[in-house]
Amino acid sequence: MATPSPQGQDIQLEPPTARHADVTPAVEDRSYIGYVASALVIALAAGFLLAVIVPLTATGTLPWDERLPQLVQAHGWAQLQGWAGLFVAGMAMRLIPRFAGRPPIPVRVTLPVLVLLVVGVVWRTIAQSFFTGTLGEVSLVVSGVIAAGGTLSVSAVLAVTLAKGRKRREPWRYFAWAGTAWWAAWGVLMVPAAIRAADNGRFIPLHMEDVLTWLVIFGAVGNFVWSVQSRSVPVFFGRKTPPIRKVVVPGVLLNAGAALIVLSLLDLSPEANERLLGAGFVLAGGASAWLAPIAGSVWGEAHRLRPRARAAARYVLAANVATLLGGVLLAWSGAASMFSGEFELFGFRDAARHAFGLGMITMLIFGMAQLVAPMFALARAEARPPRLSEVLPFWLLVTATLLRILSGLLLEVDSIDLEPRMHTASLAGAMAWVAIALFASTVVRAVRSEPRMKELLGFPARPAR
Ligand code: HEM
Repeated sequence: MATPSPQGQDIQLEPPTARHADVTPAVEDRSYIGYVASALVIALAAGFLLAVIVPLTATGTLPWDERLPQLVQAHGWAQLQGWAGLFVAGMAMRLIPRFAGRPPIPVRVTLPVLVLLVVGVVWRTIAQSFFTGTLGEVSLVVSGVIAAGGTLSVSAVLAVTLAKGRKRREPWRYFAWAGTAWWAAWGVLMVPAAIRAADNGRFIPLHMEDVLTWLVIFGAVGNFVWSVQSRSVPVFFGRKTPPIRKVVVPGVLLNAGAALIVLSLLDLSPEANERLLGAGFVLAGGASAWLAPIAGSVWGEAHRLRPRARAAARYVLAANVATLLGGVLLAWSGAASMFSGEFELFGFRDAARHAFGLGMITMLIFGMAQLVAPMFALARAEARPPRLSEVLPFWLLVTATLLRILSGLLLEVDSIDLEPRMHTASLAGAMAWVAIALFASTVVRAVRSEPRMKELLGFPARPAR
């Protein structure tokens, strides 16, 4: 069926079939849009803004030198809790019930959880960046407890959904269970981290902060990355979804690595802690690099998708290539620490966390949102080529990721000063910020065109509630 689009071009649409049931059910759950919108607002107003401010402060270009360590942590958590966490929570609570053959999670559940998560991360970011004295200390603890409440609720909702759902022996289910358990661990550890920060000048001790970062990247976010990718991405590229026997070893190594990273918080000797952390990096970094080609895709063309959707599939390829690179860099630095028992190769670790944070997480958010979120269904079906505002974010993000990885790696080159390194990072931050702003405008356009899309596809204009 060909129908004129709002722009007057032809849109190739299929009649509503079982396939569309996957994107537009009779009882629509649109609360994921609230999660995506909150993630975007926090990314633009905090995480990616601080990505520009932090390196400029480090070079003295901006005057907030005395609070730089707090700003770095505020940046890290706005990105992990706000940008990555909100997006993954929203999409997981939307997709996992579908995968498990369960009804959508009601708004009376998803909305309060969203409020807890947003209040927790916004309050913590502001408190860590600006508040001092008792106000700062109390704010950190209270925002930590609120965020923990939200995080534990996400875990509980997903656990109930998975437990009541179809018990198919498919990789997505095991990754989803592991991810659900890591959301619980994240929630539990958030509270002692907030208390330690309150006791320590609004600064979480470095080792604990590092552990939490990797717990989120590999455990709470990584498992859902592999859950959703293993179910769909190989198919986009004309390959079969991986059977359990193919992903079981890297899947177990990923989670064993994340567990070792957390165990490094135990009160052992500094040397033993560093060896445990290093071993965790080797396992989880290596497993991520292994999973990228088998559960995701690092080469090929997404010829199983409509021509219009193929542009979005490039994000998925780039995300998996960045995961490969990040995994190798982290495993390398981990191996060095494992053997020496010392903190080694900070530049590699920093490059790796941004290969995962910008490459794997941000690229996949852009790509998978456009490939699976129902609000993009009309855009996916349109025959017109992508606009400049849709192509530009890809190249901005690829360049920003490469520059941010480079600025981490340059730390290992003795002859390079702080200033060029940090200016490279701030340039990367500015490019990534523009990419997020352009993506946000695409999301707004997609949400606004959704009623028209439903009309064209012959679905009821208003979702039944
Ligand atoms: C182009 C965009 C980005 C830029 C320019 C940037 C910049 C920075 C800088 C300069 C640091 C401090 C490094 C140091 O300690 O020497 C940092 C730390 C960090 N960044 Fe980014 N970042 C970006 C994107 C991201 C993203 C998307 C994530 C996660 C999703 C992320 C997560 C982190 C984390 C977890 C830390 C460590 C925070 C801590 O030590 O507590 N960053 N970033």
